[in-house]
Amino acid sequence: MFSIAVFISGSGSNLQSIIDSIEARRVSAQIAVVVSNEPDAYGLVRAAKHGIPTAVINHHDYATRQEFEGAVLSVLQETPIDLICLAGFMRLLTPDFLRRFPQRVINIHPALLPSFPGTHGQADAFNYGVKFSGCTIHFVDEGVDTGPIIMQAVVPVLPDDDVESLKARILAQEHKIYPQVIQFFAEGRVKIVDKKVIISGGKPIEGFAYTSPPIEIF
Ligand code: GAR
Repeated sequence: MFSIAVFISGSGSNLQSIIDSIEARRVSAQIAVVVSNEPDAYGLVRAAKHGIPTAVINHHDYATRQEFEGAVLSVLQETPIDLICLAGFMRLLTPDFLRRFPQRVINIHPALLPSFPGTHGQADAFNYGVKFSGCTIHFVDEGVDTGPIIMQAVVPVLPDDDVESLKARILAQEHKIYPQVIQFFAEGRVKIVDKKVIISGGKPIEGFAYTSPPIEIF
C-alpha cells in the first residue's frame, strides 16, 4: 500500500480531506503517521479519531533545526514512507532533510505560485487586488514555495470578499486537489521533466479561459 506521512501545524482540515478520501476509497494510500510540531494542533485530534498514529515533535524542545529534524527522521524511520505531504506545516525543512527524500516531499500553498509565496498567501493576494487566486501543490525544494508545480486550482476573488471569505473559497479547493495529487502519486503517474511536472495518462483540461469581471461585449 502506498504509504504517506502528513505533517501539520494546526487545524488539519487538509489532513481531514485526505483521511476522508482514503476512507471513501477515492485515494489508494494509507497514512502511516501524522507529525505535528505543535502539541495543540487540532489535526492531532482528527488523526486520533481515525486511529492514525501521531507524533508531536515540538520545535521549541530543540536547540537547532537539525536536532528537530533528527527527531522527525527517527519517527519516519519506523515505517517505510513513499511520500511526505506538508499540510499546513509551518516549518521550513533543511536541504539535508529534503535530500533524504528526493522528489518525495510535497506542500500545499494557498495562492497561485509563484505569486504570493510565504505565510500569508491569501491575504497577500487579496490585498494586492488580484481577480483570481487559488492554491498550488508543489514539490518542496530548498527555496520557499519554489518547487515544481504539480497541480493548481483557481478561484475568483469576488467584489464582496474579505480575506476570510477568500480563504474559505481557496480551502474548499485545497480539500479537493490534495487527495487528487496523492492519488496521482499512488498510481505512479507523477514525474518531473525539465523542472515541469507531468501527470501521465490524464484527461486534457477543457480549452477555455476565465475572465474577471466577465466579458460583456462579445
Ligand atoms: C492551508 O490553507 C494551507 O494551504 C496553508 O495553511 C492552511 C492549513 O490549513 N499553508 C500555508 O500557508 C503554507 N505556507 P489546515 O491545517 O486546516 O489544513
